[in-house]
Amino acid sequence: MRHSARTEFTALREKAGMTVAQAAELLDVSPRTARRYEDGESKPRRLEIKALERIARQGAKEPPTRFRFIDLFAGIGGLRLGFESIGGHCAFTSEWDPHSQKTYALNYRDNHEIGGDIREFSQDPGKIPEHDVLLAGFPCQPFSIAGVSKKNALGRPHGFLCDTQGTLFFDTAQIIAHHRPAAFVLENVKNLESHDGGRTFATIMNVLTNELGYHVQHRVISSEPWVPQKRERVFIVGFREPTDFDFGSLVIPDPKKGPKLGSILEPHDEVDPKYTLTPRLWEYLQNYKAKHQSKGNGFGFSLFGPNDVTRTLSARYYKDGSEVLVEQPGKRPRRLTPLECARLMGFDRGDRRFKIAVSDTQAYRQFGNAVVVPVVEFVAQAMEEHIMAALRKAENEPSVIADIRSVTRPDRVLMAANG
Ligand SMILES: C[S@@+](CC[C@H](N)C(=O)[O-])C[C@H]1O[C@@H](n2cnc3c(N)ncnc32)[C@H](O)[C@@H]1O
Repeated sequence: MRHSARTEFTALREKAGMTVAQAAELLDVSPRTARRYEDGESKPRRLEIKALERIARQGAKEPPTRFRFIDLFAGIGGLRLGFESIGGHCAFTSEWDPHSQKTYALNYRDNHEIGGDIREFSQDPGKIPEHDVLLAGFPCQPFSIAGVSKKNALGRPHGFLCDTQGTLFFDTAQIIAHHRPAAFVLENVKNLESHDGGRTFATIMNVLTNELGYHVQHRVISSEPWVPQKRERVFIVGFREPTDFDFGSLVIPDPKKGPKLGSILEPHDEVDPKYTLTPRLWEYLQNYKAKHQSKGNGFGFSLFGPNDVTRTLSARYYKDGSEVLVEQPGKRPRRLTPLECARLMGFDRGDRRFKIAVSDTQAYRQFGNAVVVPVVEFVAQAMEEHIMAALRKAENEPSVIADIRSVTRPDRVLMAANG
């Protein structure tokens, strides 16, 4: 059985910047033995601890981390890149899709392995290391209001443990309740606000504000000032303590001055012909559009040239690419290449390369699911001074934080609710 408390082995291994497999190699033990050390099922020998301590001391020479964050529903790390840009260190990652994990592992050198299904961790949040900031781009799911009323009628406790049970937001809320990070950033599609007549959003805000006691603000931000794509996302920012952070008054750069598609396209002659639509698909897309136009609908493909800003890239882009087709003078249009998608999402740019080693289908899915990195950098920069101030305050008043943590843990909330 896995023990929830972090072991000395885990702490030293992380400090040394090693995965469990690397630690096993260093200590010349089997990966299974190292896993047992990790889970507290058996204890490493003294000499083994000493060897790890030596490496950990060397690892500690790295510049000190300003704050620690965790990356939930990490995808390919869009939120992570934004918070690394202000000096954050990623202490834990959860992403269950093996293809996204592959891209993630290739692009981030980590001292932790990628955790899979978040539910495994939300059931036992002690398995997640302490952190100052929690990041989560959780998938949006409806909350069954009918279920809640029924539970109320039965006289059961009415709280987030009931309201949102079975949703991935619930898992996120449980982790927040247990760890009480100084701040969190939740990111989602703009439609989250209007989902289920606004009830989903209201439930989320109620849980974060009233049940978890955070100071929460949200804002929809479009990516046009930073990348040649219109992609609107809602960012929900919460601070444990009151701050001067004012999301509404943040000045967003002028979208009209943003970059245009031409700035991220590969040279025409370097684009593989496989990205040009086949005559059959092109004909199908034109017929589909014409059919809907005759009915007065605006459905169908969209063509973009070098001076344009594209529509939102979706996770279904791999299907026919119709939402963003690139004009090609004298030729049928083409899809964006995966590299162009990486640029359209701000993952790959002048000062940063992003490695892609999955199929085109998976790459399109991953970028279509991701968040635009410079938008996150913008939000992170605005939060930075408030995060640092909160951490300084917590350092000076550690007992207050310990008290907050102990009274708001879900197990205690449940115990209190059950009398
Ligand atoms: C909207 S994407 C977030 C993308 C991320 N913000 C980025 O920039 O790449 C949601 C991610 O949650 C992952 N996911 C969904 N359910 C999960 C679960 N139960 N445990 C862990 N990851 C999950 C999906 O595979 C997907 O990659």
